[in-house]
Amino acid sequence: MKKLIKIASVALISVSFWASANSGEALLPNDEMPSYSDDKLVESMQNGMQIYMNNCMGCHSLKFQRYNRSAKDLRIPEDLMINNLMFTAEKIGDPMDNNMPTAMAEKWFGTAPPDLSLVARARGTHWLYNYFRAFYLDDSRPLGVNNSVFNNVGMPHALTQLQGLQDKSDKVKGIENDIDYAKGDIATAREELKRGGKGRELNKIIDESEHLIHEKENELVKLSQNGEYFTLIKEGELSAEEFDSAMVDLVNFLDYIGEPIKRDRKSMGIFVLLFILFFTAVAYMLKKEYWKDVH
Ligand code: HEC
Repeated sequence: MKKLIKIASVALISVSFWASANSGEALLPNDEMPSYSDDKLVESMQNGMQIYMNNCMGCHSLKFQRYNRSAKDLRIPEDLMINNLMFTAEKIGDPMDNNMPTAMAEKWFGTAPPDLSLVARARGTHWLYNYFRAFYLDDSRPLGVNNSVFNNVGMPHALTQLQGLQDKSDKVKGIENDIDYAKGDIATAREELKRGGKGRELNKIIDESEHLIHEKENELVKLSQNGEYFTLIKEGELSAEEFDSAMVDLVNFLDYIGEPIKRDRKSMGIFVLLFILFFTAVAYMLKKEYWKDVH
């Protein structure tokens, strides 16, 4: 038994270390997504669906979902759905699939674009909101862009027409340069240590460089908090605020697709709680009624 407890606690500790190591990694940018409810949420999901169908569906299917289910849940009239949002299907009862040939896609992008039915559950809405807003100019990449949330991503910046194009700000580039230098110093010092260089001096260089990197990374987080992480170098159709709000809509749509019954489940939960409350009151009154005669 004792052994079992020991094993269990070691497992628990390692899991929590793993979890904290994962969450400790700074997301840049790391902005909070505003949350909507009721009618505003439905409207937001409708707009999100429109953005998705026009810009993403060609590459990413949502095949766990059918068109008519989305139409019903998002209160989109079926004829509107058929005429404006169904580009890759024929019947309203069809799954939201596309005709992307996987082998070709792998050749084009290095990775086949994944189905996104469950992406909101796997990544979470916070990650998605920041990912969609984190594409930036990077000439060294095959598609000319990179993503600061998903480094070296194989996906093009599908929304460049809406957002325009952003670059990392000069401050960010400067700090990243400093970090690269510090990493270079650490690598050289380690090399020299291996070759039998002076331990004390070299270890001091390593310590100081690691400290510097840590400080610089904190500065990056601050810049991102102040909205100074990126600068727009080419305007798109939307202003920065409009684009952010469009991304909230897109994420709300993907969140809905990840669990279509979530909203029902929530309202049912409230109903169940109300019922329990009501029943407790009835039971209490009954108890009083019965015991009245006993005393
Ligand atoms: C031209 C094809 C293409 C288009 C258009 C496209 N994507 Fe992608 N997307 C990809 C590829 C390829 C990947 C895989 C990248 C990788 O793993 O490096 C990807 C990855 C992703 C991921 C990360 C999945 C994960 O968890 O790893 C998300 C989320 C995503 N795309 C959402 C979207 C959305 C939303 C749109 C529309 C605005 C869109 N994509 C448009 C090709 C595309």
